[in-house]
Amino acid sequence: MIEKIYLIGMGPGDIKYLTLEAIEVIRKLKLFLIPAKTGKKEALTLKRKEIIAQIKDKEDFYFLEIPFPERKKTGAYEEEVQRWRGSKAQVLKEVLQKETEKEAGFLVWGDPSLYDGHIEIFKKIQKELNFSLEVIPGISAFQILSAKHQISLTEIAGTLTFTTPRGLKGLKSIDHHVVVFLDNYESYKNFAFSGLKIYWGAYLGSSEEVLLAGNLKEVLSKLITLRRNLRKEKGFIMETYLLVPERSET
Ligand SMILES: C[S@@+](CC[C@H](N)C(=O)[O-])C[C@H]1O[C@@H](n2cnc3c(N)ncnc32)[C@H](O)[C@@H]1O
Repeated sequence: MIEKIYLIGMGPGDIKYLTLEAIEVIRKLKLFLIPAKTGKKEALTLKRKEIIAQIKDKEDFYFLEIPFPERKKTGAYEEEVQRWRGSKAQVLKEVLQKETEKEAGFLVWGDPSLYDGHIEIFKKIQKELNFSLEVIPGISAFQILSAKHQISLTEIAGTLTFTTPRGLKGLKSIDHHVVVFLDNYESYKNFAFSGLKIYWGAYLGSSEEVLLAGNLKEVLSKLITLRRNLRKEKGFIMETYLLVPERSET
């Protein structure tokens, strides 16, 4: 029976961004739960396996691939995501009930607390299965973004918003720094005439990393072409960006 689950922040997909704490935990574990992704996203499953194999010095571990369902696009977004998390929790419960190992690790992309449902998903089944949970923080995409562009994410006493295209759409104007995750819609287009700078990055922290920065109006068409080409070439895009009002000195 599983007694403890470690949710381990794995950073943006390169072993060099794992913390020592994450490495120590991975070294001592035997069982790793890996979301089984197929198609173009199989690369994300392989990346997890590759990182674990790089850290372990002995072949004393195994992977259990979790056949999580895909999200069904059936209704209001938040309800849809809640339902999806519920069905992922069910799948995990079934897998964990059969497990004889006492401890398991689950690698979460970036940091587990940012735009990731696994803390909540594991908590849903924690009481029923009676295991304890430990969250190991990881380096998130936005931290690689600011480091690579050599910028500060905040102004003196300024506000920093983390959001997604949905949240961005709701902003009437942008008067502070905004970091955007999960943008499949090139939502920055809506703010091209708002006097903003953009600091953009794709596949951050990997050998395929691409960076672009500048006045949003001036770099917009270059960014759109670049993004579309990358997406086509690799099959999926992982991008994060920061929008900054032009007055700010970053
Ligand atoms: C489901 S969220 C997970 C975020 C993750 N927990 C983190 O802390 O980075 C996935 C989104 O994070 C961003 N992201 C994650 N890894 C990235 C990377 N290596 N480069 C650029 N963006 C990344 C993208 O916006 C992507 O759509």
